[in-house]
Amino acid sequence: APAEQRPQDLAGKHVVVSAGGTREPLDPVRYLGNRSSGRQGYALARTAQARGAHVTLVAANVSLPAPDGVEVVPVETTEQLRDAVRAAAKDADVVVMAAAVADFRPATSATSKIKKSGGDPLVLRLVQNPDILAELAAERLRPGQLVVGFAAETGDDGASVLEHGRAKALRKRADLLVVNAVGAGRGFGTADNDVTILDRDAQVVATASGSKDAVADRVWDVVLAHV
Ligand code: CTP
Ligand code: CA
Repeated sequence: APAEQRPQDLAGKHVVVSAGGTREPLDPVRYLGNRSSGRQGYALARTAQARGAHVTLVAANVSLPAPDGVEVVPVETTEQLRDAVRAAAKDADVVVMAAAVADFRPATSATSKIKKSGGDPLVLRLVQNPDILAELAAERLRPGQLVVGFAAETGDDGASVLEHGRAKALRKRADLLVVNAVGAGRGFGTADNDVTILDRDAQVVATASGSKDAVADRVWDVVLAHV
């Protein structure tokens, strides 16, 4: 439905959404990155704006048009994403970390282009990035702020999608964790999603499936029940 017909149930709320995937420079022309399109984060931003929220969208390397009425802060690296999200979060009622954050970055970034040297292999040393979501959940940059994470999971021999999601919910201690089953044509880069929303104690509070817009609307419904 057009924006003006949507219930304005997020009016007066400032929400921060991170989207896309961070890139870590190896040298001036190369990076380590991931395949996140940013579409779920953009759907969250668009639907929140349509429901009356003031939206700050921290966008890491997303090539989608900025949603109408949404303040977009473009970033590249995890450090930039962290700084931008934390700055916006000081004044936010809700922070949703939908971005795919690089878990590791090169320990050093070369100031000039890395050259081949004979047939030698190139060994990269990677260091772990800070966990922005876990920090936000532990610190609460604004009192009463709701912190929401996303987790794309596949099942494996050791555990199901839900079991991986539950373990992550307990590790991160975000208020809500949106667990998305990926692989076999679901999740990454596809139109449809299949999500389970867990609370900080890893209890299932909602499920949703369908388009990224449908999932986004369901996430905001659950957020509204928790703020
Ligand atoms: N996240 C974050 N900072 C990181 C890594 C992840 O804020 N350094 C956030 C993501 O934006 C997402 C949530 O944490 O909201 C889950 O990301 P995910 O990659 O599934 O979790 P990890 O803890 O990195 O676990 P894994 O080893 O499965 O990748
Ligand atoms: Ca990760």
